[in-house]
Amino acid sequence: MKIAIIGAGNVGSLTAMRLAQASLGDIVLVDIAKGLALGKSLDLEDARPILNNDYKIKGTEDIANIKDSDIVVITAGLARKPGMTREDLLLKNSQILKDISFSIKLLAPCAIVIVVTNPLDLMTYFVLKVTGFKRNKVFGMGISLDAARFANIIAQEFELSVNDIEAVVIGAHGEAMLPLARHTRVKGIALDEFAGKDKTGLLVNKTVNRGAEIVAALGTGSAFFAPSAAIAQIVNAIAKDEKRVMGVCAYLEGEYAIKGICIGVPCKLGKNGIEDIIELDLNKEEAKVLKESADYISGFIKGLPCMI
Ligand code: NAI
Ligand code: 2OP
Repeated sequence: MKIAIIGAGNVGSLTAMRLAQASLGDIVLVDIAKGLALGKSLDLEDARPILNNDYKIKGTEDIANIKDSDIVVITAGLARKPGMTREDLLLKNSQILKDISFSIKLLAPCAIVIVVTNPLDLMTYFVLKVTGFKRNKVFGMGISLDAARFANIIAQEFELSVNDIEAVVIGAHGEAMLPLARHTRVKGIALDEFAGKDKTGLLVNKTVNRGAEIVAALGTGSAFFAPSAAIAQIVNAIAKDEKRVMGVCAYLEGEYAIKGICIGVPCKLGKNGIEDIIELDLNKEEAKVLKESADYISGFIKGLPCMI
């Protein structure tokens, strides 16, 4: 299997490391910054004898090297600075992703494309439209990261193992996300029952703000350890045809009464990418908040550059 990662910054290079170490395929790391992908791939290669692993990784500035990739992960683009929302990145990152999408369409027309660049829901929509690929083959990583954060925050609060928490987040990857307390389980017990309303509200708020909390603490750039782990989890599900259900940003055609945008929902992932979209049973209030999340995303679509 050939896996290309476009963007060898913090998220892209850590993703390369995780995928290589998991022996998921031959890795191609691409970045326009002179020498960056090459330098990082040589460094990653030097770890092979220590790790007893003959993984293959190539770093390059030339996107032509993504030719015939089975999976392409897009992490190229600008990251947030303190005080910025993900949407502030819209114009610059869509210009970058336009060229990249044309290259993928030309060079790797059978690839499954995982978008990571922010603003995630809009960039996923944009790449889907520019490539013209089917919706099962272009989707975004965002809410599985948010769900991991939610699970971690719950586990920390109650001094529990993360293994006993199944967290569910849907909606936009951003301030309009929807951590679902009623569907989140602590060893089978719904979170709102387990924690009570007030404590649940605090845990939800902490989850929504986690990305910004990390940006503020770092001072420059955004999170990369957990994001790269979340990308590797998705690639693993595809490469090993795991049929796992996890939250990804998918193009909806009426599911959840939403049409024509990309937004985070649980999906079954396997060798064909998205193999099923799972519709959770939402109550009125949850459906209303999801619609607000979808409206929030729709409001920005007209701000995207021309897609042809
Ligand atoms: P970074 O700044 O460390 O790396 C970005 C890299 O993209 C840079 O090395 C840059 O040279 C490269 N790049 C720019 N234009 C390119 C092009 N045309 N072709 C190839 N490479 C190009 O940023 P980081 O931290 O790796 O984040 C990358 C993106 O991922 C950002 O937009 C960030 O907001 C997003 N992100 C999304 C997450 C999610 O959950 N969806 C989580 C974390 C980050
Ligand atoms: C995050 O949630 C920046 O989207 C990225 O950390």
